[in-house]
Amino acid sequence: MVRATLERFRWWHVDDVLPIERTLFQPEPWTAHHFWSELGQTATRHYVVAVSEGTVVGYAGLCDYPDEAFVQTMAVAQGHQGRGIGALLLEELLAEAVRRRQSRVLLEVRADNAPAQRLYERYGFTRQGLRRGYYPGGVDAWVMERTG
Ligand SMILES: CC(C)(COP(=O)(O)OP(=O)(O)OC[C@H]1O[C@@H](n2cnc3c(N)ncnc32)[C@H](O)[C@@H]1OP(=O)(O)O)[C@@H](O)C(=O)NCCC(=O)NCCS
Repeated sequence: MVRATLERFRWWHVDDVLPIERTLFQPEPWTAHHFWSELGQTATRHYVVAVSEGTVVGYAGLCDYPDEAFVQTMAVAQGHQGRGIGALLLEELLAEAVRRRQSRVLLEVRADNAPAQRLYERYGFTRQGLRRGYYPGGVDAWVMERTG
């Protein structure tokens, strides 16, 4: 069962998400500067954090481009995965895409990241193309898209 609520991601959450980011996204985690830059672009970005018992346990962000929305990031702290928090975050991003009248939502995901791909598939994303060697270490990326 999901025991988390979503809040708007504010600058004071950055220190809470950095340890999660560094654990999950080696070898190239986003820095504080990267998060601040994202949060500063308020017209085109929609970022939320998932909070459980007063602790930030996940976060996700969407970018609103002219002809598509793009999932910028999505993360759930290791001890909190597999409880539906990823789904909660993704549903919020998809709802925001609808609010912004975007019919296409895209994302990139490591080809070796099966759990994330399963989550995206559950929400109607399909693989559109492979970017070879896109990630550090030469790991391929799937571009996935959801329409409608
Ligand atoms: C990908 C990620 C965001 C998913 O978050 P999550 O909170 O684990 O996602 P969910 O709990 O909604 O779903 C994951 C699995 O848990 C299952 N689940 C959900 N609620 C559950 C519950 N109450 N009890 C048991 N299982 C549950 C889902 O069915 C799903 O199973 P599946 O993978 O076999 O389909 C998370 O694994 C993560 O942060 N990974 C590292 C960073 C990353 O890869 N980010 C994405 C980059 S593109």
